Amino acid sequence: MTEIANVDFSNRQSLPGVDPQFTHRWSPRAMQRTAIPQDDLAALFEAARWSPSCFNDQPWRFYTSTDSTFDTYLNLLNASNQTWAKNAALLGFIVSRQHFRHNGKPNVHADFDAGAGWMALTLQAHRLGYHTHGMAGVNYDAVYEYLGLERENFRVICGFALGLRGDPATLTQEQQAKETPSGRVPLNEIWITADR
Ligand SMILES: Cc1cc2nc3c(=O)[nH]c(=O)nc-3n(C[C@H](O)[C@H](O)[C@H](O)COP(=O)(O)O)c2cc1C
Repeated sequence: MTEIANVDFSNRQSLPGVDPQFTHRWSPRAMQRTAIPQDDLAALFEAARWSPSCFNDQPWRFYTSTDSTFDTYLNLLNASNQTWAKNAALLGFIVSRQHFRHNGKPNVHADFDAGAGWMALTLQAHRLGYHTHGMAGVNYDAVYEYLGLERENFRVICGFALGLRGDPATLTQEQQAKETPSGRVPLNEIWITADR
């Protein structure tokens, strides 16, 4: 498994004690079309399966491309995402079921839970040497139609690309300029302890 070297994590300094799996996970656009072994793929979705969810409802669904459907999945992305995602090993869509299994009532936490599943999948992918890249830039109407999903029962949250990191030279100049791990807002902006 080859990884392109020279990733600059210098703007990802974190407090001591934080596991590097969090700061070293990032979302490159340059990926390799190299097929991912089935066992590795299964491990990613198995990791997602063990995520927590409201009422243990497990409302996440991950639809993924195969060799024969890759181009169809690619065409469901917006034009900008297609320019780089065409080199991914696999494309997918994250979907949440909007009603609880046990009583059929609306599950307002379904997307939150699907996000937890996505993060588990992503960290497992990183552990195995792969990268994921979420994509809100998809043609949602076309995805609902292609996957045969009714909007009353399912929400298409976003698409994603998965693969080994590829050569940044495959990207446009604009994409190359952004092909580096991003920083974050300060901790005190997201962790609020003051009384309000
Ligand atoms: C729900 C979601 C939607 C995103 N949509 C896109 C997208 O359409 N195109 C894209 O190039 N990146 C997209 N991204 C990638 C984010 O820009 C990226 O995760 C963010 O800048 C943080 O960078 P990092 O993942 O490398 O840490 C998306 C990420 C998420 C989680």
